[in-house]
Amino acid sequence: MIRNENQKSDYQYILGDCLKKLKEFEDGKFKLIITSPPYNVGKEYEVKKSIEKYLSEQDAIIAELIRTLHPSGSICWQVGNFIDKGEVFPLDIFYYNIFKSHGLKLRNRIIWQFGHGLHSSKRFSGRYETILWFTKGDNYTFNLDLVRVPSKYPGKKHFKGPKKGEFSSNPNGKNPSDIWEIVLNDWENEIWNIPNVKANHVEKSDHPCQYPIELVERCLLALTDEFDWVLDPFAGVGSTVLASLKNNRNVVGIENQIRLAA
Ligand SMILES: C[S@@+](CC[C@H](N)C(=O)[O-])C[C@H]1O[C@@H](n2cnc3c(N)ncnc32)[C@H](O)[C@@H]1O
Repeated sequence: MIRNENQKSDYQYILGDCLKKLKEFEDGKFKLIITSPPYNVGKEYEVKKSIEKYLSEQDAIIAELIRTLHPSGSICWQVGNFIDKGEVFPLDIFYYNIFKSHGLKLRNRIIWQFGHGLHSSKRFSGRYETILWFTKGDNYTFNLDLVRVPSKYPGKKHFKGPKKGEFSSNPNGKNPSDIWEIVLNDWENEIWNIPNVKANHVEKSDHPCQYPIELVERCLLALTDEFDWVLDPFAGVGSTVLASLKNNRNVVGIENQIRLAA
């Protein structure tokens, strides 16, 4: 894409129900749809219902999302568990089947791992959530070089054979893999880890379950190019909107409750 130096990224943060508002957008507009939907766990913004009803409502939204997804676009769906009477239902397993039934292809199931959280007394404490990354087709954007992280042994070279003396790993860093770590208050490593947005984190607002801007940034740098359109249908306090504007992406966020101060 040819970039105009004066070009600024465009954004809309829309108040309303995403299923209704999505109808206003044309087919194939968005290069990346990234979101964390309600988990049906009875947070203040949702009424807990049976898992079947919850998933069938989400299925209708997902069908509409896929209509607005660009043919070379990606969806990143960040979820944890739905818990009912102590039984754990891993939402990504249920969602996998929905996306697959709409013809999408899974490219990664990313484990987003954190060291802190509630301590369980009747099962092992949960310390990860997942991001399902699907594409609409086989021809999709993946800018690995924009999201490389430092190699463990950056200066290591081949010591024998035809490549003797050459770097044995990419000097620009390694693939960040499908396990993304959160390190709380680890300022030295901050840029390479995905921080948890809890208590005293600088990004923390009143929202009960924000995801970090850094998590969105890694996805949008890898899966879009500058000035592509990004969508978050469950935008919360606008983490996706901020991450997109920070990185010159055009963005739409839809949220059905007033979350931002005027
Ligand atoms: C898990 S939170 C997302 C938080 C967001 N990732 C952030 O960082 O702030 C889900 C959000 O979806 C909103 N929501 C729930 N149902 C919605 C709907 N039908 N349309 C639009 N927003 C909805 C909730 O109010 C909540 O803010």
